[in-house]
Amino acid sequence: MSNLQTLCGVENTIFQAGMGGIAGPELTAAVSNAGGLGHLGGIRMAAEDIRSWIKETRSLTDNPFGINLVPMGPGPNGFEAQLSVVLEEKPKVLSLFWGDFSSVIPRAKAAGISTMVQVGSVKDAKKAAQDGADIIIAQGIEAGGHVRGNIGVMALLPAIIKAVGPVPVLAAGGIATSEGVKAAMKLGAQGVWVGTSFVATPESLAHDIYKQRLVEAGTDDTVHGHFYSYGWPVGTPYRVILPKKKGIHQFVSGGAKRIDSPQKASGLKVYAGQGVGQIDQILPAAGVLAKLGA
Ligand SMILES: Cc1cc2nc3c(=O)[nH]c(=O)nc-3n(C[C@H](O)[C@H](O)[C@H](O)COP(=O)(O)O)c2cc1C
Repeated sequence: MSNLQTLCGVENTIFQAGMGGIAGPELTAAVSNAGGLGHLGGIRMAAEDIRSWIKETRSLTDNPFGINLVPMGPGPNGFEAQLSVVLEEKPKVLSLFWGDFSSVIPRAKAAGISTMVQVGSVKDAKKAAQDGADIIIAQGIEAGGHVRGNIGVMALLPAIIKAVGPVPVLAAGGIATSEGVKAAMKLGAQGVWVGTSFVATPESLAHDIYKQRLVEAGTDDTVHGHFYSYGWPVGTPYRVILPKKKGIHQFVSGGAKRIDSPQKASGLKVYAGQGVGQIDQILPAAGVLAKLGA
């Protein structure tokens, strides 16, 4: 077993990105049951709801899984409350995005939790490694959702590997096929961190209309923008696909959820990475893992 596999307790190299509002217990457990590492998207969850989600996930799988937190979502007090629950509940992995994690990583590690930090530049990767991150995720500008940097994954990934070695590095952004996974591994990645493909699964909490929009979208259809997105400061960069019809929701980016109205699901800009053109059907999470060559 490689260091990465020991850290995460999985033999597979496919990691499902923790996606706020989209990756709940059902998706996380389905990925972990199929041999990948599922990841709950905790960004906007109340602390006690995070506890319930972790318990529910444990009732659905005996395999390891992770949880993703982003301090930007809940603010400092909310993040501290979320983190306290995670430190008590001890999922196998805590992944972190968009922030200074120098004081968070040692606390997680002391609780026996492996830590991952997603970054979009070599500078941030070096900082995360210095802070003690066990695993670095190199997020290219191809990625769906909020995008930290401006560099394509082909250039970013080898540069980060060189800068932080021997810390294991995962590749993220636009990866949606087994060929994409192989290319990332060839460049030195020890695994891949995949978001958009797992939105288009029956197990995700995304609205059916959002899933269908992913199936219909082509490679040319994503846009990198920085206007308004739910729960984030105005101006935070993201990658989305645009709605067909003009309306009030077209100015807003988000991940349309099962519980949202059809108007919202069809009218929002929805998060999607550049690999969206390679998603041509809604597949169960285990099917996505098989497609990625797991
Ligand atoms: C719907 C959606 C929601 C996301 N939410 C989060 C999040 O809450 N936290 C996070 O660290 N990254 C989030 N991301 C970004 C992913 O971590 C990852 O960088 C991205 O999905 C990889 O690119 P891909 O979507 O092309 O596979 C999200 C991505 C998507 C598509």
